[in-house]
Order: sequence, then C-alpha cells, then structure tokens
Amino acid sequence: MRLSSEQLNELITTKLHKAGLTEDHARGVADVLVHADARGVHSHGAMRVEYYAERIAKGGINANPDFKFEKTGPATAVFDGDNGAGHVAAKLAMDEAIQIAKENGVAVVGVRRISHSGALSYFVQQAANENLIGISVCQSDPMVVPFGGSEPYYGTNPIAFAAPGKNGQNITFDMATTVQAWGKILHARSKNDSIPDTWAVDVDGNPTTDPFKVNALVPIAGPKGYGLMMMVDVLSGILLGLPFGNKVSSMYHDLTEHRNLGQLHIVINPEYFTALNLFQESIATTMQDLNNIKPAPGFDHVSYPGQRSAEREKKYEENGIEIVDHIYEYLVSEVVHNNAYDNKSPFAK
Ligand code: NAI
Repeated sequence: MRLSSEQLNELITTKLHKAGLTEDHARGVADVLVHADARGVHSHGAMRVEYYAERIAKGGINANPDFKFEKTGPATAVFDGDNGAGHVAAKLAMDEAIQIAKENGVAVVGVRRISHSGALSYFVQQAANENLIGISVCQSDPMVVPFGGSEPYYGTNPIAFAAPGKNGQNITFDMATTVQAWGKILHARSKNDSIPDTWAVDVDGNPTTDPFKVNALVPIAGPKGYGLMMMVDVLSGILLGLPFGNKVSSMYHDLTEHRNLGQLHIVINPEYFTALNLFQESIATTMQDLNNIKPAPGFDHVSYPGQRSAEREKKYEENGIEIVDHIYEYLVSEVVHNNAYDNKSPFAK
C-alpha cells in the first residue's frame, strides 16, 4: 500500500492518540516514524506503532509526562522525559540544545528517563537544518554479545551525525553499532524473509539465518563496534545516572514498566570555529568529491553517507511511502493492539 506522508502521519497519530497519548505527542511520534519510513528505514517506521500502542495502553509509556528541562552549566543541560514518548522528549531536548549552541557555540544535553526514541537521524537533522552539527547517541536494550562473549551485554546503541551543506542538503550518518539494528530483524520477521548469517546468533551463539531464532546480535567490526557501543552506553547511560550495560530495561519484557532509557545530544556551532559559509561550502564539496570517486567493481557509484536515504525521501514525496499490507490493515483498523508484544502476555508471539 502506498500512502502520502500526510496520510501515514494521520493514521499513526490517530492510533497512538487512541492508545492514550495526547494528540500533540501522538503527532510528535508520528513525525519521527514517517521520517524513518520516508528515508527507507522501515525498521523504525510504522511497523513500530502497534508495539508503542500496546506499551502506552499498558502504562509502560507515560501518556501524560511531566517534562522537566534544567540548565546545569553554560552549555550543558538535562531534559527529564518522565518516561513519556521518547521521540517527543528527544525532539524537545534537541530544540533546547540548538538554542544553547546558537548562544554558546556548543551544547551537550542529556535526555533522561525516556522510552524508545526511534531513528536518530531525525534529531541530528533538526540541528543540521539550523546550520549546526548534530550528534546523538542513545541506549537500547541488551541484545548484543560483546566481542568474545556468548551472552548479551550492550544494546544496539546507535550513533548519528549530521552536518549542513549547501541548499538545504546535509550529510547524515546514522547507524546502530551492531551489524544490523534489531528493527531489521523485526522487519525480516514481518515479511517472513531470511537474514544473512553475519547479523546475529541463536541461543547457542551460532550464526543464524532465521529471524525467529535470533537470540543476540553481533557488534560491527568485532572489538571496534564493541568499543563504540561501550562509549555510547557511558555517554547516554552512566553519565546520566541511569541503568547501564545489561541492566538497561528490555523492550519486550514487561510492557507495563517504564524504560528509563538515556540519550545524549551534542550540538556544535560551526561559526565558533570557522566561517559558516566556508564550512557549508566544504561539506558540499565533500559530498561532491565522494560522488566523483571511481566506483569499485560491482558498484555503479559512490554515495555520501545519507545520500541514498535523502534520494528515497525525495522519491517518496512524489510516489508515496510503501507500507507493508498487514501494517496498513492494523493502522486503519479499530484495534488499539493485539497483545502481541508483551513477553508476559499469554498471547505473546
Ligand atoms: P543502516 O545500516 O541502514 O545505515 C547505516 C548508515 O550507513 C546510514 O547512515 C546510511 O545512510 C549509510 N549507508 C548505507 N548504505 C550506504 C551506501 N551504500 N553508501 C553510503 N552510505 C550508506 O542503519 P542501521 O544501523 O540499520 O540503523 C537503522 C536505524 O535504527 C537508525 O536510524 C538508528 O538510529 C536506529 N536505531 C535506533 C535505536 C534506538 O534505540 N532508538 C537502536 C538502534 C538503531
């Protein structure tokens, strides 16, 4: 089913509002999910709505959070999300970080006690759209074996970066520190596809191609990805006084519980280091230089980070966003959720 971004946004907003979020917060979540679907990151788009709806309905996402923002220094602040919708808290915290960086050159804003916040590219692009550099990292539930280990310890702990180029274009990098995000496993499950044997391991620690047999994911580039996920956990967990490592809450264990996750936004104002125009010019040149690199055998061109997603976004603006049929059917149905995600539920898949 193909939908315009406005249609998809409306369907998601209606469903999450029905689940209990205020209309304003429901739309805030929908904005981030539609952004992901429009960029082709379907693992973090509409396919998450039913899980969120179930968690909201069961009280695991606070439908009426008391957000609190506290400046802790000239360029530092903490945003307390009161376990409300993580997307909304992370967006508002980035708005604050942008203001601080405009005034002080840099901002470091911790986002405490939130639920899942979706695709981090949304937040770093908020900064890039204001001619600032955005960096964001966040915790995710333990599901990754550390290098050399057979039990999960860290989450897929993503890192995102965006910097402004010319004419509204920016370079955006956004990745889980695992070979693949957990959402890609869910996407494969939703389509009944197999997965490459390099993404994940089964309960015995052996590589698996069956998305339903996945017990843990693996870090990118062995010890290097493992080191990056440690760094993300320190910055978005330990630094903010939150549970860390394998003490981070699980996404599916008990949907009545608050998740208490952390995220950290860092915003840098290029004007405090160089002329903004020169910076944007150089980013634009980098993007062009990368496109001009002679492709390796088997590739037709080199893309700069985020280029393929930006191109998809443009194409989807014209042709609509492709949504898997059963997700569309759920979105247009009267059902809030099917009790399908809570491990404690007798009806859990
Ligand atoms: P991915 O593997 O689809 O892409 C990673 C990066 O590589 C992107 O910046 C993409 O633009 C770039 N890329 C991919 N192919 C490329 C090519 N051929 N040339 C140049 N660049 C290329 O991303 P991944 O790791 O699957 O993450 C998906 C999403 O999941 C992200 O938005 C991330 O923020 C989100 N996530 C969120 C979590 C949360 O708890 N909130 C946890 C983990 C991931």
